[in-house]
Amino acid sequence: MASRAVMRSTTRDFKKYYNPEVGNELRMDTNTNVLGSNPAAERYLREQTEDINGYPNTYSDGLRDALASLYGLERENFVAGSGSDEMLDVAFKTFTEWGDGCVVPVPSYTLYEYFVSMNGGTPVESELSEDFQLDVDDIIRSGAKVAVVPSPNNPTGNSFRQKDLEDLLCRFDGILVIDEAYGEYADSTMISKVDEFDNLIVLRTFSKAYAMAGLRIGYAAASLDLADMMNSVKIPYSLNKISEGAAIAAVNDQGFIEESRRMVAKERPKLASDLRRLGFEPYPSDANFILAVSPIDHSVLVPELKKRGVMIRDFGGKRRTENCVRMTVGTSDLNKIMTDGISEVLEAYR
Ligand SMILES: Cc1ncc(COP(=O)(O)O)c(C=O)c1O
Repeated sequence: MASRAVMRSTTRDFKKYYNPEVGNELRMDTNTNVLGSNPAAERYLREQTEDINGYPNTYSDGLRDALASLYGLERENFVAGSGSDEMLDVAFKTFTEWGDGCVVPVPSYTLYEYFVSMNGGTPVESELSEDFQLDVDDIIRSGAKVAVVPSPNNPTGNSFRQKDLEDLLCRFDGILVIDEAYGEYADSTMISKVDEFDNLIVLRTFSKAYAMAGLRIGYAAASLDLADMMNSVKIPYSLNKISEGAAIAAVNDQGFIEESRRMVAKERPKLASDLRRLGFEPYPSDANFILAVSPIDHSVLVPELKKRGVMIRDFGGKRRTENCVRMTVGTSDLNKIMTDGISEVLEAYR
């Protein structure tokens, strides 16, 4: 077998991403929208007659126009691509030199360190407080070139304080990437501030509230200058024209996003209280998922629940989320299926 020494030195320790065996289980492990595929996007896909012989628009102008009118910004404030994962990659590619420090909060989205290292940067961990808030001074002291902070945070679910984010934007010398993958569920966004701060990049995705993860669409909003820099680095045509058309249709149907937001706002406190009744300790969430300390060993709960047809995500082996599991907030019917399955496991193993 070839030695991993043939790989680029910064990538030799990489492991492949979460890729579970999946059958007919109820997926409550990926924070996608439980209301099902985006209806406007589905309609577009059924009716579209795109010429797939021709390339898509190089920089997805149609989608960027739709986003510009949604947020009251300009087309040139946006960068569009294949998932917000691509936008993370582009941000590090555009703004970091080999060896530059890049701040990654702990705990947060596991792929940040991957994208930093992949692009030759050095991940600098910044510990979140007891209640999972940012240590603003620690990030400023790091002297890093880029800091990435997800708000609401994954896997903890809480948003970071607006005043901390604004404090960071004023005092941090590097570029601040605020990853709002779950921003549609939260009360505030930083997208409206991109023209005010020339070190701010906000990322969004069509994978979560928009219910279109399978089409791989994400975007960044930033000042005209930063967005131009990122557009000149990203792979041209990385967003295919079918996905772009579906995304435009979805942006123009904000009713579905409203309905999704209302459903989560209604069901999240009920799920949290059901979990408490079962002996879990759920953390407060502003997103469409809940992180909770399990009353039994996480490494028993997660596979046993899967055997009963429900998948949730295991964070129990990671620092700061010891014995924790993360589950998507479902409709009341789906939450009942999930909590009934959990009850069965607890009865068998408590
Ligand atoms: C915080 C965060 N950022 C980014 C992503 C990636 O989203 P996308 O599907 O747009 O690549 C995820 C997906 O789980 C996420 O949780």
